[in-house]
Amino acid sequence: MAKYDGLTTQDILAPIDLEVDFNTLQMGNYYFRSFFISGYPRFVGPNWLSPIINFEHSLRISTFYYPVDSKVILDKLRKKIGEMEATIYGQMEERKVVDPSVKVALSDAQQLQDSIAEGTEKFFHFTMYITIYAPTKELLEKYSRNVTSTLAAISVTAKSATLQQEQAFISTQPLGLDKLYITRNMDTTSLATTFPFVTSELTMDHGIMYGINMHNNSLVIFDRFELENANTVVFAKSGAGKSYFVKLEAVRSLMLGTDIIIIDPEREYEDLSKAVGGSYISFSQDKGHKMNPFELSGVSEEGDDELRMKLLALQGFFKVMFDGLSSIESSILDRALILTYREKGITFDPETQKNTPPMLEDLYKVLKGMAEDEAHELARRMEKYIIGSGAGVFNEATNFEIKNPFTVFSVRDLQEELKPLAMYLMLDFIWTIIRKNKKRRLLIVDEAWYMMQREDSARFMYSIAKRARKYYLGLTTITQDVADFLNNDMGRAIISNSSLQMLMMQSPSTLEKLQEVFNLSDGERGFLLNCEKGQGLFFAGANHVAIQVLSSIQEHELITSDPRELEQRKLRGETEDNRSIDQLAVIYDPPATQQAITTETTRNKTLIERAVGKRKEDIEVIQEETTKYQEELKKRLEEQERELNPQKYESQKSFNQIIEENTVPGQIVKERRDIQKGVKHITPQGIIGDENEEQPKQF
Ligand SMILES: Nc1ncnc2c1ncn2[C@@H]1O[C@H](COP(=O)(O)OP(=O)(O)OP(=O)(O)O)[C@@H](O)[C@H]1O
Ligand SMILES: [Mg+2]
Repeated sequence: MAKYDGLTTQDILAPIDLEVDFNTLQMGNYYFRSFFISGYPRFVGPNWLSPIINFEHSLRISTFYYPVDSKVILDKLRKKIGEMEATIYGQMEERKVVDPSVKVALSDAQQLQDSIAEGTEKFFHFTMYITIYAPTKELLEKYSRNVTSTLAAISVTAKSATLQQEQAFISTQPLGLDKLYITRNMDTTSLATTFPFVTSELTMDHGIMYGINMHNNSLVIFDRFELENANTVVFAKSGAGKSYFVKLEAVRSLMLGTDIIIIDPEREYEDLSKAVGGSYISFSQDKGHKMNPFELSGVSEEGDDELRMKLLALQGFFKVMFDGLSSIESSILDRALILTYREKGITFDPETQKNTPPMLEDLYKVLKGMAEDEAHELARRMEKYIIGSGAGVFNEATNFEIKNPFTVFSVRDLQEELKPLAMYLMLDFIWTIIRKNKKRRLLIVDEAWYMMQREDSARFMYSIAKRARKYYLGLTTITQDVADFLNNDMGRAIISNSSLQMLMMQSPSTLEKLQEVFNLSDGERGFLLNCEKGQGLFFAGANHVAIQVLSSIQEHELITSDPRELEQRKLRGETEDNRSIDQLAVIYDPPATQQAITTETTRNKTLIERAVGKRKEDIEVIQEETTKYQEELKKRLEEQERELNPQKYESQKSFNQIIEENTVPGQIVKERRDIQKGVKHITPQGIIGDENEEQPKQF
């Protein structure tokens, strides 16, 4: 047995105490209660145990399967069938109504007999035990009630193992020991349904690889377009690997023929775009790409006029620009917009809509020319974007087209306050293209909290999320500001319109809210708090799994945003890369395993040391208390003895003295001893006077 600082592994692992009660078991700070299952439903479907396997609190379930010899069971069945037939005949002879339950049981037994005799079924004994635990007795009671009622709902009767808690507890440990043996007969078919197939497998035969399922190391391969909608939300704190995850998905989807459009406020996607031959459209106030808000796309949906749609979109745009509009301002703007288009010869007639569209300054002029004060006020507020600090972005003719299957829009070079407006405009532009030509697309909005800051842009995001499915579009919304998203009605609506949700590393402050919105178990909550970069919870419809996002070396180099790695790449960029495809395709070690190599041992060591320290303290306390107790006990016994038997005690105690003082030989011995003190000489008892040697006993 390996020893660590004098303690064995068992010493460290074993609980300090164990208290067994009628219906509970207390170990350390936890209370446990174990149940056995005494009643099962007559019919079960596949996965009928899933309510209890997916129970909201952690619990331990153990099931035991005992094969029974078919011959034994056939003999028993024959006897039982005979009995039941006799009962039925008896009742018939007495002209009584035959008991229907006996009839049912008889036919069941006959069927079973047939299938066992044919060899299509085998016979088993099945047992099932459940242990729940909680930090307080009250909670334990609550969980117990929940467990029994959850089981009752699937017609399973669970009973607390009264006076056998210890045996029941052992039976639910992963030891393979059934200490209770409370069985139920089952044939193979019924038995198969008890198997807990609920651990979520997210492996499809098509789709893209997202990573590794951390529960069972299977691959998470998934096609988001298979779900009721293809929208995704990704939430995590900064640096958790959100963009990484989304970029991986984007390149892999691109390879399978999905078009990708990205809104990138941080200029993070530029390298990736270059590497896959995409186009990178960067807006800035001086040079670069421009987009005219008034541009018409030439698409009209059935029953919808393009210009009418555009007017609505422009209303939204100006609401974001002016941070809301009053109803008077809104109606003035509406009139002004129609006028502006009309001046360019554009009306509700689709033919005219091919003309060159107006620009912001045209609207400005129209507003200036209107009679109302509000119109002048609006024009005044617009000035900033035409000649003021915000000029050069929105008052320009569009100078690009989206043709590339991988297009990134960047707003990094814009002023912070222009970003939401530009993002809104872009989304509107993209939305028009999406409607024009339906094809499988992903629209990725990174740092989506920019869009959530203003109600109108948030509403726009929501409307895209809601309608995306019809246009074969998957919207991906990424944000680190979870609170912003969750506190916003539109944000919550976007979440509920996203079938795929990815939660990665979170800060404690946001977890409370997330747990409520995503209905996380305590375990999942703990996972999100402690997981590493690149790990997360992947929710797909009803399934959720913990996932490790994995990339190849080549992919990693393209998508990392780690400044150190980017610098290295820049340096390496000058020298030729002569690595082979095989080398580049090797899996990149995710941060979780990288750290594990260096810190796992130290972490384990400190963990063990702490455990040992704690155990040693415990043991020291116990030893101290034991010696104290023993001393006290001895003292008390002596006192008792003295009280009960004073003379004996007195005489015993002074026996040596009495002899020394009162007898002649005693006095001689004492004198001799005094003389010989300090002088060495040999006696039959050893050397006397040697300090190192034990002094011979006197009597
Ligand atoms: N699965 C992963 N495998 C390897 N490295 C990863 C993984 N996930 C994240 N990283 C590393 O962590 C870095 C930060 O990740 P990422 O850029 O995705 O953060 P983020 O969540 O988008 O943060 P922010 O909100 O600040 O944009 C990556 O550049 C990469 O180096
Ligand atoms: Mg990011």
